[in-house]
Amino acid sequence: MLNGQIEFDYNNMMVSHIGSEYGLQESDLTQLQKSFADVHTAIHTGSGAGSDYLGFLSLPETVQSQIPRIQETANQIAEKSDIHLVLGIGGSYLGGRALFEALCHPYHNQLDRARRGERPRLFFEGNNLDTDSLLSMLDLLPEGTPSSLAERWSMNVVSKSGGTLETAVTFRILRQLAESVYGDQAAEYIVATTDAKAGKLKGLADAQAYPQFVIPDDVGGRYSILTPVGLLPAAVAGIDIQQLVQGAADMKAACQSSSLQDNPAYLYAALQHLSWQAGRSISVMNIWDKALEYVGFWYDQLCAESLGKDGKGRIPITGVCTRDLHSRGQELQDGPHNTVITNLIVEQMQRKIELQSDPGNSDELNYLAGTTLHEMLNKAHDGTNYAYAREGRPSMNFKLKERSAYNLGALFYLFELSTVAEGYLMQLNPLNQPGVESYKNFMFGLLGREDKREYREEFESRPAHDARFQR
Ligand code: PA5
Repeated sequence: MLNGQIEFDYNNMMVSHIGSEYGLQESDLTQLQKSFADVHTAIHTGSGAGSDYLGFLSLPETVQSQIPRIQETANQIAEKSDIHLVLGIGGSYLGGRALFEALCHPYHNQLDRARRGERPRLFFEGNNLDTDSLLSMLDLLPEGTPSSLAERWSMNVVSKSGGTLETAVTFRILRQLAESVYGDQAAEYIVATTDAKAGKLKGLADAQAYPQFVIPDDVGGRYSILTPVGLLPAAVAGIDIQQLVQGAADMKAACQSSSLQDNPAYLYAALQHLSWQAGRSISVMNIWDKALEYVGFWYDQLCAESLGKDGKGRIPITGVCTRDLHSRGQELQDGPHNTVITNLIVEQMQRKIELQSDPGNSDELNYLAGTTLHEMLNKAHDGTNYAYAREGRPSMNFKLKERSAYNLGALFYLFELSTVAEGYLMQLNPLNQPGVESYKNFMFGLLGREDKREYREEFESRPAHDARFQR
């Protein structure tokens, strides 16, 4: 698909390749095709659950008009600061982080500014309540007023609701620091990415006259990578956001049919759904390119928060290969038959390294002389998936020609559409996240918020925890 930029191979899901005990029949897909007529209608007419949040489907077009301003602001941030902090959590964090990790130099923050393409170092915070992590990041900031570009820092606070504790608390700490070091000019170093109308962050940003970017009402957090939520951090890092959006636009065009064979997003949804119905409740994304690990984490959130509800769902796990073949590999090969694997592979590396012959051959590696590391990785992949297949363990492959903004934009779009389709097949709302409120209610109650008093009271009347095993 997309002029051969992305290939999807699901042979190892089928009876023909993994045998009849665990493989799927072509007829399973044919039968499910009927349900896709309804899924397709629900998505395209907005008649499905949560349809108020289907705005992500048209982002490849609707975000276009914002790209010049996003790029201009990113360039200004890059010109005036050498450290850029992105504060956000969940859908307001993982997309930007995934893009940064995938498309910047793996040691971007350690390179000198020229080798970073005159872009700032990027750090992600506001995604936890971790004292050491935050204080360690503050250690990187200069004490007092920055006196040179190398010391100047800026930040982008990303929160649609503005009420997310992790982000809001971190922002208060950093905002106060910015006000103390930059004085009247603090607002020049702060950008807010938030809701258009409501929310505490919106009010604060208006009052302080921070430059603002809008997260559209009809786009939920984990579907927002193609809004300023993902695009602004990416542009600050020097990533080609136009190509990212173009990839998504081309994938959108490739996913217009209701036919499984002509719509890769639906096909992936169908395979995951059949697999889930067959009792495979754990889906592993095995990443064969370290830089894409956060793409896996981004997908973990998309899948878990969208599909894990009403007592249903599959547990997504990200693994990096070959690293995790030495940890989870044993269980995937030999444990319970409750997993399905999606491999994410990059065909061409940007550089290559080849093993040289060694006269002594004391490590007995000369049989590999002339072989590149990437060729070894590919053989590891082929060998691993054949080993799974011969034991009836299903897997499928997304192969990207190269790791590029274009291909990632396409992949993100495919996974988002596929997740909604899968949710509709499961007859649930893939666009809400009611379960997340539960921990927040008790946490806010325990932290003393009066409107959450009932949760504090319930918690306080819970069965006692005896210190039974304390010595
Ligand atoms: O997908 C979602 O909706 C969530 O993961 C949110 O993105 C996350 O909770 C952060 O919310 P907010 O942007 O309101 O701070």
